[in-house]
Amino acid sequence: MRVGVLTGGGDCPGLNAVIRAVVRKGVEVHGWDFVGFRNGWNGPLTGDSRPLGLNDVEDILTRGGTILRSSRTNPYKVDGGVEKIRQVLADQGVDALIAIGGEDTLGVAKRLTDDGIGVVGVPKTIDNDLGATDYTFGFDTAVSIATEAIDRLHTTAESHHRALVVEVMGRHAGWIALHSGLAGGASVILVPERHFNVDQVVSWVERRFEKEFAPIIVVAEGALPEGGEEKLLTGEKDAFGHVRLGGIGTWLADEIANRTGKESRAVVLGHVQRGGTPTAYDRVLATRFGLNAVDAVADGDFGVMVALKGTDIVRVKLSEATAELKTVPVERYQEAEVFFG
Ligand code: F6P
Repeated sequence: MRVGVLTGGGDCPGLNAVIRAVVRKGVEVHGWDFVGFRNGWNGPLTGDSRPLGLNDVEDILTRGGTILRSSRTNPYKVDGGVEKIRQVLADQGVDALIAIGGEDTLGVAKRLTDDGIGVVGVPKTIDNDLGATDYTFGFDTAVSIATEAIDRLHTTAESHHRALVVEVMGRHAGWIALHSGLAGGASVILVPERHFNVDQVVSWVERRFEKEFAPIIVVAEGALPEGGEEKLLTGEKDAFGHVRLGGIGTWLADEIANRTGKESRAVVLGHVQRGGTPTAYDRVLATRFGLNAVDAVADGDFGVMVALKGTDIVRVKLSEATAELKTVPVERYQEAEVFFG
């Protein structure tokens, strides 16, 4: 058996841990060969691949990023894309694919399975917004990085009697904002799922100042004020139709300064949240996903994604995993509201 592996979409701490687990189990337990396809779906589309043996996965468990590199290539946007992939797989003698990615990469995996190509999916995203799995790896690392930043911002905000707005990633789902805001003791947390009222945010900020503390406002990049629009860095869309978000933090910091007369600053954490070594939790989750993806290939169980349910790793249909984004439920947001102001 010869298996191709690829990583697609935004990178995420833990990708290399999955690759290592897949290759270690595939080679040592099943005696399989592996091909690493480079740059997401661009690899099987163009035949850009590299050998992937035991030596190649030594020392990568703790490394951030992905040794296979990544891209947001969508083969369904390329003329004859599926046929090209079929041909490359035949030319390179690849019997099955393991695709590690988020909603876009796994959406392609689902369509390819429907088109007769055997794919097993592994869920990754720092945003934790993939349906059908309790958690994705990368999320815990991103939350830890954001929380450390918030901890540090508390002390400088207090020294200067300033409001500090921290913009974190999260296009449609506010999981990183919610968890880092709760862990870091934020005075306000704003998520894309709930449009916010600027007057209300200002009154929480003022209340925090009255208590002689400096407010920290955590805002997801996709959050927006009531009646307002998402703040974009550019209107240009990628191959999956996503625009680049950004700017809500600066906008909100200015609003707070103008309305309260207090100094206010914005910090955008951006790609720092995606870089560097994964936490122990993410290394373990990524490793377990990799081991279970190999089992699915061994069973010929294609069109599935490995997923975390409670503490178990299970298989779910890719169609189920990509049907709906997992957003922050109202009750989870309400838990956090107790700490606002
Ligand atoms: O999908 C993960 C994500 O981190 C989003 O939260 C963010 O909007 C996006 O990637 C940023 O993508 P890029 O790396 O292409 O700027």
